[in-house]
Amino acid sequence: MKNNAIPILGTFALLLFQSLESSAAPALIPQPAQMEIGAGQFTLTAQTRIVFTPEAKEVAAIAEYLAGHLRPATGFALPVGGQTGAIGLQLDSTAKELGAEGYRLKVIPQSVTICAQQPAGLFYGAVTLLQLLPPEIFSRQAVKGVAWTMPCVKISDQPRFGWRGLMLDVSRHFFSKEEVKHLLDAMALHKFNTFHWHLTDDQGWRIEIKKYPQLTQAGAWRKDIGFGLDPKSSTAYGPDGRYGGFYTQDDIREVLAYAQARFITIVPEIEMPGHAGAILSQFPDLACDGKAPGELGAGVHASVYCAGREDTFAYIENVLTEVVALFPGKYLHIGGDEVPKDNWKKCAKCQARIKAEGLKNEHELQSYFIRRVEGLVNAKGRTLIGWSEIREGGLAPRATLMDWIGGAVEGANGGHDVVMSPTSHCYFDYCQSQRRSREPRSIGGYIPLRKVYDFEPIPAKLAPEQHKHILGAQGNLWTEYIASLKHVEYMAFPRGAALAEVTWSPAAAKNWDSFVQRMPVHQQRLVAAGIGHREFRAVEETPAGEWKPKQMSTEFKTLTWDLTALVKDGGAYAAEFVYNRGKCGIALRSASVLQNGVEIAKDVHDAFAGANSRKNIYTFKLPKPAPGAKLTLQASLRSDGGTDSAGQIFVSPAGK
Ligand code: ACM
Ligand code: ZN
Repeated sequence: MKNNAIPILGTFALLLFQSLESSAAPALIPQPAQMEIGAGQFTLTAQTRIVFTPEAKEVAAIAEYLAGHLRPATGFALPVGGQTGAIGLQLDSTAKELGAEGYRLKVIPQSVTICAQQPAGLFYGAVTLLQLLPPEIFSRQAVKGVAWTMPCVKISDQPRFGWRGLMLDVSRHFFSKEEVKHLLDAMALHKFNTFHWHLTDDQGWRIEIKKYPQLTQAGAWRKDIGFGLDPKSSTAYGPDGRYGGFYTQDDIREVLAYAQARFITIVPEIEMPGHAGAILSQFPDLACDGKAPGELGAGVHASVYCAGREDTFAYIENVLTEVVALFPGKYLHIGGDEVPKDNWKKCAKCQARIKAEGLKNEHELQSYFIRRVEGLVNAKGRTLIGWSEIREGGLAPRATLMDWIGGAVEGANGGHDVVMSPTSHCYFDYCQSQRRSREPRSIGGYIPLRKVYDFEPIPAKLAPEQHKHILGAQGNLWTEYIASLKHVEYMAFPRGAALAEVTWSPAAAKNWDSFVQRMPVHQQRLVAAGIGHREFRAVEETPAGEWKPKQMSTEFKTLTWDLTALVKDGGAYAAEFVYNRGKCGIALRSASVLQNGVEIAKDVHDAFAGANSRKNIYTFKLPKPAPGAKLTLQASLRSDGGTDSAGQIFVSPAGK
């Protein structure tokens, strides 16, 4: 194929193209801003050459990244560079409309062209190109028998938000640099651009600080895995059998380079003034009572730097000096959340500080602390970012807020930038399903895929002129109950795919039904790439119905739910009654399926759906529904032990 490397976009035969809604639309996640589907396809062959302009290191690196991701599955040579080739990457500094991260991608039978104003845009175009191919392209081993074709498309795309993030807590449990890289790869596939690395907390200090080697020599290790987890759920043990680990500064540089090649900025978090147990274990003088918090582990709380001592700020400055020298990004996260004030109330030095600075109380002392650290951070040319509580006692003047428990509207109205990461939608350590018996142990909570998908990062109460302050959104992977990478990824995906669409796609392009249709193909990508995930099952995302306290009675009664949309074919089906909340559960004695009001299947057995469910699945053998027929599920049940029970009913083909 000897084609001009960069076909001229204007000659494109627009008439060939259909709308985005076409069933032929490729299953891209996140959905691009604009896409037209054409007739025909481009076929990748062993001879396909990837060319790029201009001859710049950054552009060449993206071409190599693309080739590096196309070669393993295809087994093709795919040479990079030269004058003419069927795949062309072109940086065009005049394409201002594409912004810092946007791109245009055009596939015609003879060629594929990606054009962007900035390298990041070329990178995202390359990620889209990979997703246009069969999902097996993500395999790291050769895959035989696949036609490596892409549908003809014309895409013009750029992100809605500039902060598209995931956070990983490596303190509660430790993840090696290789594991972090694996997560960065998964992020790149979803066009995430910010990795928030929670490097220090009460349970371990994970970043080497040359000036204070004991922080990692001792502060990165604890007696055991903690949190009641199975010791075998992690391999992070030292030669002496202690649990933990840390990153050397060389490790950090290596991970930074890896992230940089994927256009991911890393935001390091060094927690203060609370969640400081790991550093206080090595430098107890920095605590109000001068005492070390004891063995690092699940029990360590209330570990707070003394805000009255000058030493505290000297240590923090020394640590931040090394952190800033390592991380090139604009933001430095200093935590600021969940600061217990009891120690400060009892501490003579803290009280003296309050008096000397004319502060009203310990909340203003927290504000004093953060402002002082902001001064250090700003002096190093960086912007401070912190969790919601940094608003306590007054927000530091130039700080960016990370909203987990509120404050976004107030912060933005005060002229501060805000990253949305609320516990309602973005806590990926929460459960994805109410069917707890099927889920790994977790911190609790409930944030199903649909909830993440429906997240709107701009708070409804925020005036339009302040919308610019909402930088984007981030999913948080706190790891108290997560000790392996597989489990991290299980919690992160597919919710991360939903968040990718929330943060990248225009609000108007978001469509749950379309997402559900695209997810099976996307899941094949995750499988091929070896990215852990919770299995996506469309039926499970849509309960057949629910029961609520107001329907409950202590006498048996019959409740019905519409199944028409869920049962399209004949076969064996299971209806699972899943208790969600309330002091009591429900006792069931039978369930049946009706077609146009006539019973067609019945399962009679006693069951209980509650905190300790018993036989709470009813099964049916159903004929193929008659065209246009209405199907209903009917159950005979009563509440048991009260009337406040609530739950959901999931109906799916048996065994799924
Ligand atoms: C947090 O979850 N404590 C920020
Ligand atoms: Zn103190």
